[in-house]
Amino acid sequence: MSAGRQRTASPPIAGSATSDFVVVANRLPVHPAEPPSRAWEPSPGGLVPALSGVLAGRDGVWVGWSGEIGPRDAPGTHEGMRLRSVHLTQRDYDEFYLGFSNATLWPLYHDAVRTPTFHRDWFHAYRDVNRRYAESAAQVASFGGTVWVHDYQLQMVPRLLRELRPDLKIGFFLHIPFPPRELFLQLPWRHAILDGLLGADLVGFQVPGAAANFSRLARRLSGAKGTTSSIEYDGRTINVGAFPISIDSARFVERAQDPEVRARARQIRADLGDPEVVLLGVDRLDYTKGIDNRIRAVAELFADGTLHPSKHVVVQVAVPSREEDDHYVSERRHLEQIVSEVNGDHALVGRPAVHYLHQSLLMDELVAMYLAADVMVVTPFRDGMNLIAKEYVACRTDLSGALVLSEFAGAAAELKGAFFVNPHDLEGMKEAIVRAMTVAPREGRARMLRMRRTVLRHDVHAWASSFLGALARSTGRPRAIHAVQPSAGATANG
Ligand code: G6P
Repeated sequence: MSAGRQRTASPPIAGSATSDFVVVANRLPVHPAEPPSRAWEPSPGGLVPALSGVLAGRDGVWVGWSGEIGPRDAPGTHEGMRLRSVHLTQRDYDEFYLGFSNATLWPLYHDAVRTPTFHRDWFHAYRDVNRRYAESAAQVASFGGTVWVHDYQLQMVPRLLRELRPDLKIGFFLHIPFPPRELFLQLPWRHAILDGLLGADLVGFQVPGAAANFSRLARRLSGAKGTTSSIEYDGRTINVGAFPISIDSARFVERAQDPEVRARARQIRADLGDPEVVLLGVDRLDYTKGIDNRIRAVAELFADGTLHPSKHVVVQVAVPSREEDDHYVSERRHLEQIVSEVNGDHALVGRPAVHYLHQSLLMDELVAMYLAADVMVVTPFRDGMNLIAKEYVACRTDLSGALVLSEFAGAAAELKGAFFVNPHDLEGMKEAIVRAMTVAPREGRARMLRMRRTVLRHDVHAWASSFLGALARSTGRPRAIHAVQPSAGATANG
């Protein structure tokens, strides 16, 4: 597959414009504010807070798309990071972003919970846009520098970048699940995507199962040799591992202790009618998040009298997302239908059973919501990690509160104090919600303490340093050289 590959080295641009640390992600950490404003705002999502702390202070460059169609550049700097814009045309947006990234890969990698759509044109757009990201990174990375590529939108960048700049150390981290082989093999361009990833020196995943899926697939599909943690391919060694992402825990703790945020949390509870129990869900409005089954479960609890709107309140925040994709449009309609049915059947005048907000929240409002909620309900059908669960736990500084968590979220491997659910099992979900609502205070505190220890110890900074440390140790050299300098990932069978 890789024989005869053209290696056209493209030298970095000279001078201070280059950096020895470059992040490449689909989105930049800023996006344009709503028109007519010409201002730029920090981008939503977990990746930005995760990486801005790492880049600031290292004089790093972030290569990405501003979220706007057309040739306008984002500002050259943001909070100590240098930014380099990749421009997307309307066609790129339709075929690379909405198409291949979000209607082919996203559903395929999330257990095909919606049927993935396969279009050759979309794949060609994906490859072309990946090439542009690789070219931008090649121009700003200094000789021998490190480039960290992120997520499913950019899986071909490692290979394309290596062809342009063989001197670079290249890491790739996948934020979403990596599917089992049976699903990945459906992809008509499976060789190209796999070969793209194998251009990296280190490929990181959220959980060990995803890393194992990838290594098995590489051996089966590309003839690579090796183990789960170390693959020999194309004369190089590629290290593979699990690096569960986390949050800026100290920042959430600090906001959760702020008197104004705490006052706002009390106000939220008062506005909700001072109920006995507040149940909260916060998700991007996405069909992978299992919001519909969660609302169905609470609807049944209202119907059988376990919940009563005079005492119990559900708040569901659904952050608008990918609103031009048909699956997302119909998911929104579907959810709003269910919410209105629950309220129609069970609300009292002035006391809705489910408060539904289709909005994004600023950080302080989100933290106040976490503080106002007795039970956080996180029930994705499949999720790479789920940072909302970790944010809730970080904010519960007094050890109150309980977490109901899907066993199919990456966070389930770490947050062992949660009440686990199979989001497809309505009865099990109802039981877990009731157990979380009625847990004895002592047991509840012990569970929260256990989870908080994990989240406070393993924060986003620990995540980034563990990935970058492993990347720094990846030599990329074949195993014969490893025999001289043994590494943890090296195996005996080569
Ligand atoms: C997930 C993905 C990110 C993505 C985010 C928001 O968390 O892993 O790569 O940026 O969703 O989605 P969007 O399509 O708006 O970038």
